[in-house]
Amino acid sequence: MKISLSIGAVLSASLIAGTQAFPHFANRAEAFGDGLKSEDSELTKAWLKKIDEFKAGGGDYEKRADSNGGGRKLTALINPANFKFNADEQLVDIYSEAHRFQPPGPNDIRGPCPGLNLLANHGYLNRNGVTTLTQGIDAINRVFGVGYDLALALNAYAVVFNGNLLDLTWSIGGPYGSSGLGAITNLLTNSEPKGINAHNIYEGDASIVRQDYYAPGANHDNVHVYLPYFEDLLKLGGNDATEGKDVYNAELMLQHKANRWHESVATNPLFFNSAFGGLVVTTAAERFVAEFAANNTADENGYNRIYLDEKNLLAFFSVTKDANGKLTYTPGHERLLDGWYRRPLAAQFGLEDIVLTLLNAAKIDPSLLSVGGNAGQVNTFTGVNVGDLTGGVYNLETLLNNPQALSCYLYQIGVEELIPTQLGGLYKVLGTVLDFVGKNIAGPWKKVATAGNNPCDSFNSNIKEAYAKYPGSKIE
Ligand code: HEM
Ligand SMILES: *[C@@H]1O[C@H](CO)[C@@H](O)[C@H](O)[C@H]1NC(C)=O
Repeated sequence: MKISLSIGAVLSASLIAGTQAFPHFANRAEAFGDGLKSEDSELTKAWLKKIDEFKAGGGDYEKRADSNGGGRKLTALINPANFKFNADEQLVDIYSEAHRFQPPGPNDIRGPCPGLNLLANHGYLNRNGVTTLTQGIDAINRVFGVGYDLALALNAYAVVFNGNLLDLTWSIGGPYGSSGLGAITNLLTNSEPKGINAHNIYEGDASIVRQDYYAPGANHDNVHVYLPYFEDLLKLGGNDATEGKDVYNAELMLQHKANRWHESVATNPLFFNSAFGGLVVTTAAERFVAEFAANNTADENGYNRIYLDEKNLLAFFSVTKDANGKLTYTPGHERLLDGWYRRPLAAQFGLEDIVLTLLNAAKIDPSLLSVGGNAGQVNTFTGVNVGDLTGGVYNLETLLNNPQALSCYLYQIGVEELIPTQLGGLYKVLGTVLDFVGKNIAGPWKKVATAGNNPCDSFNSNIKEAYAKYPGSKIE
Protein backbone atom coordinates (compact mmCIF):
# COMPACT_ATOMS: atom_id res chain seq x y z
CA MET A 1 0.00 0.00 0.00
CA LYS A 2 1.26 3.44 -0.79
CA ILE A 3 -0.21 6.29 1.10
CA SER A 4 -1.31 8.77 -1.48
CA LEU A 5 -0.40 11.85 0.45
CA SER A 6 3.23 12.40 -0.43
CA ILE A 7 5.61 13.94 2.04
CA GLY A 8 6.36 16.61 -0.53
CA ALA A 9 2.79 17.79 -0.28
CA VAL A 10 2.94 17.60 3.48
CA LEU A 11 6.12 19.60 3.45
CA SER A 12 4.54 22.53 1.70
CA ALA A 13 1.39 22.26 3.78
CA SER A 14 3.48 22.28 6.91
CA LEU A 15 4.95 25.61 5.96
CA ILE A 16 1.51 27.04 6.47
CA ALA A 17 0.03 24.96 9.26
CA GLY A 18 2.85 22.97 10.75
CA THR A 19 4.42 25.41 13.12
CA GLN A 20 1.29 25.53 15.22
CA ALA A 21 1.40 21.82 15.95
CA PHE A 22 5.06 21.96 16.95
CA PRO A 23 5.88 25.39 18.23
CA HIS A 24 9.32 24.10 19.28
CA PHE A 25 10.42 24.15 15.72
CA ALA A 26 8.80 27.35 14.61
CA ASN A 27 12.33 28.58 14.60
CA ARG A 28 15.27 26.22 14.42
CA ALA A 29 17.58 28.66 16.08
CA GLU A 30 15.53 28.30 19.23
CA ALA A 31 16.49 24.67 19.46
CA PHE A 32 20.07 25.04 18.58
CA GLY A 33 21.67 28.43 18.34
CA ASP A 34 22.36 30.34 15.17
CA GLY A 35 25.92 29.19 14.56
CA LEU A 36 24.86 25.78 13.40
CA LYS A 37 22.79 26.90 10.50
CA SER A 38 25.82 28.43 8.93
CA GLU A 39 27.85 25.27 9.52
CA ASP A 40 25.18 23.40 7.66
CA SER A 41 25.52 25.77 4.76
CA GLU A 42 29.27 25.09 4.83
CA LEU A 43 28.31 21.46 4.43
CA THR A 44 26.07 22.30 1.50
CA LYS A 45 28.93 24.17 -0.14
CA ALA A 46 31.32 21.28 0.41
CA TRP A 47 28.70 18.88 -0.94
CA LEU A 48 28.21 20.89 -4.14
CA LYS A 49 31.95 21.06 -4.62
CA LYS A 50 32.18 17.31 -4.16
CA ILE A 51 29.46 16.76 -6.75
CA ASP A 52 31.46 18.84 -9.23
CA GLU A 53 34.53 16.75 -8.53
CA PHE A 54 32.57 13.61 -9.28
CA LYS A 55 31.28 15.11 -12.50
CA ALA A 56 34.85 15.91 -13.46
CA GLY A 57 35.65 12.25 -12.90
CA GLY A 58 37.61 12.15 -9.67
CA GLY A 59 35.59 12.39 -6.55
CA ASP A 60 36.33 9.22 -4.65
CA TYR A 61 38.06 10.31 -1.57
CA GLU A 62 38.24 13.72 -0.08
CA LYS A 63 41.88 14.70 -0.22
CA ARG A 64 43.56 16.40 2.62
CA ALA A 65 43.85 20.00 1.61
CA ASP A 66 46.75 21.04 3.75
CA SER A 67 49.22 19.92 6.40
CA ASN A 68 51.02 16.60 6.52
CA GLY A 69 50.60 13.55 8.64
CA GLY A 70 47.36 12.12 9.89
CA GLY A 71 46.93 10.22 6.72
CA ARG A 72 43.23 9.44 6.62
CA LYS A 73 42.35 8.94 2.98
CA LEU A 74 38.64 8.98 3.53
CA THR A 75 37.77 12.12 5.45
CA ALA A 76 34.61 14.03 6.16
CA LEU A 77 33.41 16.64 3.66
CA ILE A 78 34.59 19.30 6.05
CA ASN A 79 37.93 17.85 6.97
CA PRO A 80 38.94 18.34 10.62
CA ALA A 81 42.54 18.47 9.38
CA ASN A 82 41.82 21.82 7.72
CA PHE A 83 41.58 23.51 11.10
CA LYS A 84 44.19 24.32 13.68
CA PHE A 85 43.90 22.13 16.77
CA ASN A 86 42.37 24.21 19.53
CA ALA A 87 42.56 22.46 22.90
CA ASP A 88 40.22 24.86 24.68
CA GLU A 89 37.54 24.60 22.08
CA GLN A 90 37.82 20.85 21.54
CA LEU A 91 38.11 19.57 25.10
CA VAL A 92 34.75 18.12 26.13
CA ASP A 93 33.65 18.53 29.72
CA ILE A 94 33.60 15.13 31.36
CA TYR A 95 34.99 16.51 34.61
CA SER A 96 32.23 18.61 36.16
CA GLU A 97 29.66 17.08 38.50
CA ALA A 98 27.06 17.24 35.72
CA HIS A 99 29.18 15.41 33.15
CA ARG A 100 31.40 13.07 35.11
CA PHE A 101 31.12 9.41 34.07
CA GLN A 102 28.57 7.55 36.13
CA PRO A 103 27.50 4.02 35.24
CA PRO A 104 23.74 3.54 34.86
CA GLY A 105 21.70 2.63 37.92
CA PRO A 106 19.34 -0.35 37.97
CA ASN A 107 16.39 1.61 36.59
CA ASP A 108 18.29 3.54 33.93
CA ILE A 109 17.73 2.54 30.32
CA ARG A 110 20.62 1.77 27.99
CA GLY A 111 20.47 0.27 24.50
CA PRO A 112 22.30 -0.77 21.33
CA CYS A 113 23.88 2.58 20.53
CA PRO A 114 27.23 3.13 22.25
CA GLY A 115 27.17 6.83 21.34
CA LEU A 116 23.88 7.40 23.12
CA ASN A 117 24.75 5.18 26.09
CA LEU A 118 27.91 7.16 26.54
CA LEU A 119 26.10 10.48 26.37
CA ALA A 120 23.72 9.32 29.09
CA ASN A 121 26.63 8.09 31.22
CA HIS A 122 28.16 11.56 30.95
CA GLY A 123 24.89 13.38 31.63
CA TYR A 124 24.60 14.93 28.18
CA LEU A 125 21.38 12.96 27.85
CA ASN A 126 19.23 12.35 30.90
CA ARG A 127 20.99 9.69 32.90
CA ASN A 128 17.79 7.61 33.04
CA GLY A 129 18.07 7.01 29.28
CA VAL A 130 14.91 8.86 28.28
CA THR A 131 15.73 11.96 26.32
CA THR A 132 13.94 14.56 24.25
CA LEU A 133 14.20 15.82 20.71
CA THR A 134 16.03 19.01 21.59
CA GLN A 135 18.30 17.46 24.22
CA GLY A 136 19.30 14.74 21.78
CA ILE A 137 20.12 17.22 19.05
CA ASP A 138 22.11 19.44 21.35
CA ALA A 139 24.07 16.55 22.90
CA ILE A 140 25.30 14.92 19.70
CA ASN A 141 26.24 18.28 18.28
CA ARG A 142 28.09 19.56 21.32
CA VAL A 143 29.94 16.40 22.19
CA PHE A 144 30.61 14.93 18.74
CA GLY A 145 30.15 17.71 16.18
CA VAL A 146 27.16 16.15 14.40
CA GLY A 147 25.67 18.71 11.98
CA TYR A 148 22.27 20.16 12.74
CA ASP A 149 20.28 18.56 9.92
CA LEU A 150 21.71 15.12 10.62
CA ALA A 151 21.12 15.53 14.35
CA LEU A 152 17.56 16.64 13.70
CA ALA A 153 16.80 13.77 11.32
CA LEU A 154 18.28 11.12 13.67
CA ASN A 155 16.39 12.38 16.67
CA ALA A 156 13.11 13.02 14.89
CA TYR A 157 13.15 9.47 13.55
CA ALA A 158 13.54 8.17 17.09
CA VAL A 159 10.64 10.31 18.30
CA VAL A 160 8.30 9.19 15.56
CA PHE A 161 9.14 5.50 15.41
CA ASN A 162 10.34 4.70 18.91
CA GLY A 163 9.15 7.51 21.13
CA ASN A 164 6.31 9.84 21.95
CA LEU A 165 5.28 12.40 19.41
CA LEU A 166 3.19 14.27 21.95
CA ASP A 167 5.90 15.15 24.45
CA LEU A 168 8.83 14.58 22.01
CA THR A 169 10.53 12.09 24.34
CA TRP A 170 12.23 8.90 23.23
CA SER A 171 14.20 6.12 24.89
CA ILE A 172 17.76 5.09 24.01
CA GLY A 173 16.84 1.46 24.78
CA GLY A 174 13.57 -0.31 25.53
CA PRO A 175 10.03 0.82 26.45
CA TYR A 176 9.57 3.55 29.04
CA GLY A 177 6.76 5.17 30.96
CA SER A 178 6.24 8.45 29.16
CA SER A 179 4.25 11.30 30.67
CA GLY A 180 2.24 11.75 27.47
CA LEU A 181 1.54 8.04 27.38
CA GLY A 182 -2.22 8.05 27.88
CA ALA A 183 -2.65 10.19 24.84
CA ILE A 184 0.06 8.58 22.69
CA THR A 185 -1.38 5.10 23.16
CA ASN A 186 -4.56 6.53 21.71
CA LEU A 187 -2.61 7.59 18.64
CA LEU A 188 -0.61 4.38 18.25
CA THR A 189 -2.22 1.31 16.72
CA ASN A 190 -1.39 -1.28 19.28
CA SER A 191 1.23 -0.36 21.79
CA GLU A 192 3.28 2.05 23.83
CA PRO A 193 6.54 3.52 22.52
CA LYS A 194 9.14 0.76 22.31
CA GLY A 195 12.46 2.64 22.32
CA ILE A 196 15.21 2.26 19.73
CA ASN A 197 15.80 -1.43 20.54
CA ALA A 198 12.78 -2.37 18.44
CA HIS A 199 14.02 -4.52 15.59
CA ASN A 200 13.63 -3.56 11.93
CA ILE A 201 12.60 -0.02 12.67
CA TYR A 202 15.73 1.85 13.64
CA GLU A 203 17.73 -1.17 14.70
CA GLY A 204 18.91 -3.48 11.93
CA ASP A 205 21.05 -6.48 11.02
CA ALA A 206 24.79 -6.83 10.36
CA SER A 207 25.57 -4.31 13.09
CA ILE A 208 29.09 -3.65 14.19
CA VAL A 209 29.32 -5.76 17.33
CA ARG A 210 25.70 -6.72 18.10
CA GLN A 211 24.01 -9.88 16.87
CA ASP A 212 21.12 -10.00 14.43
CA TYR A 213 17.79 -10.13 16.23
CA TYR A 214 16.63 -13.30 14.45
CA ALA A 215 20.07 -14.96 14.26
CA PRO A 216 20.14 -18.56 15.54
CA GLY A 217 21.37 -18.61 19.12
CA ALA A 218 21.08 -14.85 19.60
CA ASN A 219 17.94 -15.11 21.75
CA HIS A 220 16.72 -11.91 20.15
CA ASP A 221 19.57 -10.02 21.77
CA ASN A 222 20.33 -7.19 19.38
CA VAL A 223 21.45 -4.89 22.20
CA HIS A 224 24.55 -6.24 23.92
CA VAL A 225 28.08 -6.44 22.58
CA TYR A 226 28.86 -9.88 21.21
CA LEU A 227 32.54 -10.29 21.96
CA PRO A 228 33.46 -12.56 19.03
CA TYR A 229 32.46 -9.72 16.69
CA PHE A 230 34.48 -7.30 18.74
CA GLU A 231 37.49 -9.62 18.52
CA ASP A 232 37.07 -9.66 14.74
CA LEU A 233 37.18 -5.90 14.70
CA LEU A 234 40.37 -5.82 16.74
CA LYS A 235 41.86 -8.46 14.47
CA LEU A 236 41.05 -6.33 11.44
CA GLY A 237 43.05 -3.61 13.18
CA GLY A 238 45.94 -6.06 13.51
CA ASN A 239 45.40 -6.07 17.29
CA ASP A 240 47.49 -2.95 17.17
CA ALA A 241 47.25 -1.27 20.56
CA THR A 242 49.69 1.55 19.82
CA GLU A 243 48.46 4.64 21.62
CA GLY A 244 47.82 7.59 19.36
CA LYS A 245 47.72 5.50 16.19
CA ASP A 246 44.84 5.91 13.74
CA VAL A 247 43.98 2.23 13.43
CA TYR A 248 40.17 2.45 13.35
CA ASN A 249 39.74 4.94 10.52
CA ALA A 250 36.86 5.14 8.07
CA GLU A 251 38.45 2.81 5.51
CA LEU A 252 38.89 0.08 8.10
CA MET A 253 35.41 0.48 9.54
CA LEU A 254 33.77 0.24 6.12
CA GLN A 255 35.77 -2.87 5.35
CA HIS A 256 34.46 -4.18 8.67
CA LYS A 257 30.93 -3.37 7.52
CA ALA A 258 31.44 -5.45 4.39
CA ASN A 259 32.75 -8.37 6.48
CA ARG A 260 29.79 -8.19 8.85
CA TRP A 261 27.34 -8.05 5.95
CA HIS A 262 28.68 -11.26 4.43
CA GLU A 263 28.83 -12.88 7.85
CA SER A 264 25.14 -12.18 8.37
CA VAL A 265 24.27 -13.53 4.94
CA ALA A 266 26.22 -16.69 5.79
CA THR A 267 24.89 -17.24 9.31
CA ASN A 268 21.42 -15.72 9.69
CA PRO A 269 18.69 -17.36 7.60
CA LEU A 270 16.49 -14.34 8.30
CA PHE A 271 19.08 -11.65 7.54
CA PHE A 272 17.31 -8.56 6.26
CA ASN A 273 18.86 -5.32 5.09
CA SER A 274 16.15 -2.66 5.19
CA ALA A 275 16.51 0.64 3.38
CA PHE A 276 16.80 2.79 6.47
CA GLY A 277 17.73 0.72 9.55
CA GLY A 278 19.97 -1.57 7.50
CA LEU A 279 21.40 0.29 4.56
CA VAL A 280 21.70 3.72 6.13
CA VAL A 281 21.91 3.29 9.91
CA THR A 282 24.25 0.33 10.31
CA THR A 283 26.63 1.62 7.63
CA ALA A 284 26.59 5.13 9.04
CA ALA A 285 27.27 3.66 12.49
CA GLU A 286 30.57 2.18 11.28
CA ARG A 287 31.59 5.61 10.06
CA PHE A 288 30.41 7.19 13.32
CA VAL A 289 32.97 5.11 15.18
CA ALA A 290 35.82 6.42 13.06
CA GLU A 291 34.62 10.03 13.22
CA PHE A 292 33.13 10.41 16.68
CA ALA A 293 34.91 7.98 18.98
CA ALA A 294 38.16 9.41 17.66
CA ASN A 295 40.42 11.58 19.75
CA ASN A 296 41.86 14.75 18.22
CA THR A 297 45.29 16.21 18.61
CA ALA A 298 47.71 18.58 16.93
CA ASP A 299 49.94 17.40 14.12
CA GLU A 300 53.48 18.73 13.64
CA ASN A 301 52.11 21.87 11.99
CA GLY A 302 49.50 22.56 14.61
CA TYR A 303 46.62 21.30 12.47
CA ASN A 304 44.02 18.95 13.81
CA ARG A 305 44.80 15.26 13.60
CA ILE A 306 41.81 12.99 14.13
CA TYR A 307 42.66 9.41 15.09
CA LEU A 308 41.08 6.42 16.73
CA ASP A 309 43.34 4.03 18.60
CA GLU A 310 42.43 0.84 20.44
CA LYS A 311 42.33 2.49 23.84
CA ASN A 312 39.59 4.91 22.86
CA LEU A 313 37.73 2.26 20.87
CA LEU A 314 37.57 -0.04 23.90
CA ALA A 315 36.21 2.68 26.18
CA PHE A 316 33.64 3.72 23.59
CA PHE A 317 32.30 0.16 23.39
CA SER A 318 32.56 -0.54 27.13
CA VAL A 319 35.10 -3.30 26.66
CA THR A 320 38.30 -3.80 28.66
CA LYS A 321 41.33 -5.88 27.74
CA ASP A 322 43.60 -7.49 30.31
CA ALA A 323 47.34 -8.17 30.06
CA ASN A 324 46.67 -11.52 28.36
CA GLY A 325 44.45 -9.89 25.76
CA LYS A 326 41.25 -11.25 27.30
CA LEU A 327 38.26 -9.00 26.63
CA THR A 328 35.52 -8.19 29.13
CA TYR A 329 32.33 -6.36 28.26
CA THR A 330 30.38 -4.50 30.91
CA PRO A 331 26.91 -3.59 29.58
CA GLY A 332 26.14 0.10 29.64
CA HIS A 333 29.52 1.46 30.77
CA GLU A 334 30.42 3.23 27.53
CA ARG A 335 32.48 6.32 28.21
CA LEU A 336 34.90 8.97 27.08
CA LEU A 337 38.38 8.88 28.60
CA ASP A 338 40.02 11.76 30.42
CA GLY A 339 41.80 14.04 28.01
CA TRP A 340 39.47 13.31 25.10
CA TYR A 341 39.08 16.01 22.43
CA ARG A 342 36.30 16.04 19.86
CA ARG A 343 36.63 17.24 16.25
CA PRO A 344 36.63 21.04 15.82
CA LEU A 345 33.02 22.25 15.90
CA ALA A 346 33.56 23.96 12.55
CA ALA A 347 34.09 20.50 11.05
CA GLN A 348 30.46 19.39 11.38
CA PHE A 349 29.69 15.94 10.06
CA GLY A 350 26.38 15.90 8.19
CA LEU A 351 23.79 14.01 6.19
CA GLU A 352 25.86 14.64 3.09
CA ASP A 353 28.69 12.72 4.72
CA ILE A 354 26.35 9.79 5.22
CA VAL A 355 25.58 9.67 1.53
CA LEU A 356 29.30 9.69 0.74
CA THR A 357 29.87 7.02 3.39
CA LEU A 358 27.47 4.72 1.58
CA LEU A 359 29.13 5.52 -1.69
CA ASN A 360 32.55 4.66 -0.33
CA ALA A 361 31.18 1.53 1.33
CA ALA A 362 29.83 0.45 -2.04
CA LYS A 363 33.25 0.99 -3.62
CA ILE A 364 34.58 -1.56 -1.16
CA ASP A 365 31.66 -3.88 -1.83
CA PRO A 366 28.62 -3.02 -3.97
CA SER A 367 26.49 -5.49 -1.97
CA LEU A 368 26.38 -2.87 0.72
CA LEU A 369 23.91 -0.84 -1.32
CA SER A 370 21.42 -3.69 -1.60
CA VAL A 371 18.08 -3.66 0.06
CA GLY A 372 17.00 -7.26 0.54
CA GLY A 373 17.63 -10.36 2.57
CA ASN A 374 17.94 -14.08 2.90
CA ALA A 375 14.99 -16.28 1.94
CA GLY A 376 14.83 -18.31 5.15
CA GLN A 377 18.12 -20.13 4.70
CA VAL A 378 21.68 -18.91 4.94
CA ASN A 379 23.42 -17.76 1.77
CA THR A 380 20.18 -17.12 -0.10
CA PHE A 381 20.49 -13.36 -0.25
CA THR A 382 18.70 -11.57 -3.03
CA GLY A 383 18.54 -7.82 -3.33
CA VAL A 384 15.67 -5.83 -4.73
CA ASN A 385 16.81 -4.65 -8.13
CA VAL A 386 17.64 -0.96 -8.11
CA GLY A 387 16.00 -0.54 -11.52
CA ASP A 388 12.76 -2.07 -10.23
CA LEU A 389 12.84 -0.02 -7.09
CA THR A 390 13.29 3.23 -8.99
CA GLY A 391 11.01 2.57 -11.93
CA GLY A 392 14.09 2.42 -14.12
CA VAL A 393 15.36 5.85 -13.13
CA TYR A 394 18.60 4.50 -11.66
CA ASN A 395 20.65 1.35 -11.71
CA LEU A 396 23.45 0.28 -9.39
CA GLU A 397 26.07 1.75 -11.71
CA THR A 398 24.50 5.23 -11.56
CA LEU A 399 24.33 5.07 -7.79
CA LEU A 400 27.97 4.10 -7.54
CA ASN A 401 29.17 7.02 -9.57
CA ASN A 402 26.88 9.86 -8.81
CA PRO A 403 26.34 11.22 -5.31
CA GLN A 404 23.27 13.16 -6.41
CA ALA A 405 21.68 9.98 -7.73
CA LEU A 406 22.56 8.16 -4.55
CA SER A 407 21.21 10.88 -2.28
CA CYS A 408 17.97 10.98 -4.25
CA TYR A 409 17.71 7.18 -4.14
CA LEU A 410 18.20 7.11 -0.38
CA TYR A 411 15.72 9.90 0.12
CA GLN A 412 13.08 8.32 -2.08
CA ILE A 413 13.32 4.71 -0.87
CA GLY A 414 14.37 5.35 2.72
CA VAL A 415 12.22 8.37 3.52
CA GLU A 416 9.62 9.65 1.12
CA GLU A 417 7.99 6.39 0.27
CA LEU A 418 8.98 4.14 3.13
CA ILE A 419 8.12 6.30 6.12
CA PRO A 420 4.45 6.95 5.33
CA THR A 421 3.82 3.26 4.62
CA GLN A 422 5.52 2.22 7.84
CA LEU A 423 3.73 4.84 9.87
CA GLY A 424 0.49 3.52 8.44
CA GLY A 425 1.02 0.41 10.54
CA LEU A 426 2.05 2.30 13.64
CA TYR A 427 -0.34 5.23 13.93
CA LYS A 428 -4.13 5.33 13.82
CA VAL A 429 -4.19 8.89 12.56
CA LEU A 430 -1.50 10.12 10.23
CA GLY A 431 -1.96 13.86 9.82
CA THR A 432 0.09 15.14 12.73
CA VAL A 433 2.83 12.59 12.40
CA LEU A 434 3.27 13.16 8.67
CA ASP A 435 3.50 16.86 9.28
CA PHE A 436 6.27 16.27 11.82
CA VAL A 437 8.08 13.84 9.53
CA GLY A 438 7.86 16.22 6.61
CA LYS A 439 9.49 18.99 8.54
CA ASN A 440 12.05 17.19 10.63
CA ILE A 441 13.07 14.07 8.68
CA ALA A 442 12.07 14.48 5.06
CA GLY A 443 13.01 18.16 5.08
CA PRO A 444 16.71 17.69 5.89
CA TRP A 445 17.04 14.67 3.57
CA LYS A 446 15.27 16.43 0.74
CA LYS A 447 17.59 19.38 1.08
CA VAL A 448 20.55 17.08 0.41
CA ALA A 449 18.79 15.13 -2.33
CA THR A 450 17.83 18.24 -4.26
CA ALA A 451 20.96 20.32 -3.69
CA GLY A 452 22.53 21.67 -6.86
CA ASN A 453 19.09 21.65 -8.54
CA ASN A 454 18.96 17.88 -8.59
CA PRO A 455 15.33 17.23 -9.59
CA CYS A 456 14.95 14.04 -7.52
CA ASP A 457 11.43 13.33 -8.73
CA SER A 458 9.36 10.75 -6.90
CA PHE A 459 9.35 7.24 -8.21
CA ASN A 460 6.87 4.66 -7.09
CA SER A 461 9.14 2.05 -5.61
CA ASN A 462 6.51 -0.10 -3.92
CA ILE A 463 9.12 -0.75 -1.33
CA LYS A 464 6.68 -2.21 1.14
CA GLU A 465 5.67 -4.98 -1.26
CA ALA A 466 9.34 -5.59 -1.92
CA TYR A 467 9.98 -5.98 1.82
CA ALA A 468 7.13 -8.45 2.27
CA LYS A 469 8.99 -11.08 0.26
CA TYR A 470 11.68 -11.36 2.91
CA PRO A 471 10.86 -13.44 6.00
CA GLY A 472 13.32 -11.44 8.12
CA SER A 473 11.55 -8.14 7.47
CA LYS A 474 8.98 -8.80 10.21
CA ILE A 475 8.53 -6.23 12.94
CA GLU A 476 7.50 -7.87 16.19
C1 HEM B 1 19.91 10.67 18.01
C2 HEM B 1 21.02 10.11 17.63
C3 HEM B 1 21.21 8.64 17.46
C4 HEM B 1 20.28 7.64 17.37
C5 HEM B 1 18.78 7.74 17.44
C6 HEM B 1 21.01 6.40 17.24
C7 HEM B 1 20.42 5.17 17.14
C8 HEM B 1 21.09 3.98 16.98
C9 HEM B 1 20.48 2.71 16.80
C10 HEM B 1 19.00 2.44 16.75
C11 HEM B 1 21.46 1.80 16.66
C12 HEM B 1 21.30 0.32 16.42
C13 HEM B 1 21.56 0.07 14.97
C14 HEM B 1 22.02 -1.32 14.68
O1 HEM B 1 21.19 -2.17 14.52
O2 HEM B 1 23.22 -1.52 14.64
C15 HEM B 1 22.70 2.49 16.75
C16 HEM B 1 23.92 1.90 16.64
C17 HEM B 1 25.09 2.57 16.72
N1 HEM B 1 25.25 3.91 16.94
FE1 HEM B 1 23.83 5.26 17.20
N2 HEM B 1 22.34 6.65 17.25
C18 HEM B 1 22.50 8.01 17.36
C19 HEM B 1 23.70 8.69 17.43
C20 HEM B 1 24.93 8.09 17.44
C21 HEM B 1 26.17 8.78 17.63
C22 HEM B 1 26.32 10.28 17.83
C23 HEM B 1 27.15 7.85 17.58
C24 HEM B 1 28.62 8.01 17.75
C25 HEM B 1 29.11 8.79 18.65
C26 HEM B 1 26.52 6.57 17.35
C27 HEM B 1 27.18 5.37 17.20
C28 HEM B 1 26.59 4.16 16.98
C29 HEM B 1 27.32 2.94 16.75
C30 HEM B 1 28.82 2.78 16.72
C31 HEM B 1 26.38 1.92 16.59
C32 HEM B 1 26.63 0.47 16.29
C33 HEM B 1 26.71 -0.36 17.52
C34 HEM B 1 27.02 -1.79 17.22
O3 HEM B 1 26.52 -2.35 16.26
O4 HEM B 1 27.78 -2.40 17.93
N3 HEM B 1 25.17 6.76 17.27
N4 HEM B 1 22.45 3.83 16.96
C1 LIG C 1 43.98 12.80 23.09
O1 LIG C 1 45.03 13.49 22.50
C2 LIG C 1 45.70 14.32 23.43
C3 LIG C 1 46.73 15.11 22.67
O2 LIG C 1 46.13 16.18 22.08
C4 LIG C 1 46.37 13.49 24.48
O3 LIG C 1 47.03 14.31 25.41
C5 LIG C 1 45.29 12.70 25.19
O4 LIG C 1 45.87 11.80 26.10
C6 LIG C 1 44.46 11.92 24.21
N1 LIG C 1 43.30 11.45 24.91
C7 LIG C 1 42.88 10.20 24.89
C8 LIG C 1 41.68 9.91 25.68
O5 LIG C 1 43.43 9.33 24.24
